[in-house]
Amino acid sequence: MKRLECLEKRKEEKRLKDKDLFKVVDSTIDAKTFLILQDLARKYEIEEYWGAVSSGKEARVYPAKTYNGNFYAVKIYYTTTSASKRAIERYAFSDRRFSNLKTSNTRKIISIWAKKEFKNLSIMHDNGIIVPKPIGVRENILIMEFIGDNGIRAPLLKEISKDEVSRELYDNILLQVELMVKKAGLVHGDLSEYNVMIWNNKEYIIDVSQSVTIDHENSQLLLKRDIDNINRFFESCGVEVDDSEEILKRVWIST
Ligand SMILES: Nc1ncnc2c1ncn2[C@@H]1O[C@H](COP(=O)(O)OP(=O)(O)OP(=O)(O)O)[C@@H](O)[C@H]1O
Ligand SMILES: [Mg+2]
Repeated sequence: MKRLECLEKRKEEKRLKDKDLFKVVDSTIDAKTFLILQDLARKYEIEEYWGAVSSGKEARVYPAKTYNGNFYAVKIYYTTTSASKRAIERYAFSDRRFSNLKTSNTRKIISIWAKKEFKNLSIMHDNGIIVPKPIGVRENILIMEFIGDNGIRAPLLKEISKDEVSRELYDNILLQVELMVKKAGLVHGDLSEYNVMIWNNKEYIIDVSQSVTIDHENSQLLLKRDIDNINRFFESCGVEVDDSEEILKRVWIST
């Protein structure tokens, strides 16, 4: 084969390979994100990205299958200006040092946000709180342990059947909240039946980008709101719940 033909063939093969990486091509993935995903695929031995398991206001989560058949969850933050505006507002709230950030460098701000979620996940995971194990972060992409089976995600607390919603589950979730405060020094800040996944009899706390340290000026308020959300959900399922002020006293660090 002539040299030029050979080169063309390799290019074509590479193109096919890159195309094969994505089982479902997604219009929200911009060119730069696409390139980073290719890079991450090499680093983490990812064979395929599957279609999103969810799309929210700020991010989409995709299953990524590795060559040896394991799955990662890949959370890709949108890089649009409106997403970044929201991120700045939330970031400025959770960390005052960032209150002067301008929207000019959208990608940079989103990447700070992704790093923050990675850091919060790492602190929680290292302190024994049940969260997806963080694997890596690059720009607007976070890779973590996939909660579920074979690329099918586990149900959210909101999605399990009512008869599985028990007092035991309630106590276990409150224990995670307590460990988060007392061991990790963090308050979730957006806890509800939408940010807990139930898998293998364990309650995984997810979506921790907005979590704040306990010395944050609003940490107690946020903690109270988290507890109220959990109480409201379990009460609506007929579980007898504790008084939220009592729980707050119990889980807060007494100084
Ligand atoms: N580690 C994971 N493994 C499997 N599925 C996950 C994982 N993390 C998140 N998900 C799925 O992706 C969804 C969105 O994730 P997350 O809550 O972190 O993002 P979000 O930006 O808050 O999105 P939303 O606005 O929809 O809440 C979750 O509700 C859950 O269904
Ligand atoms: Mg969420």
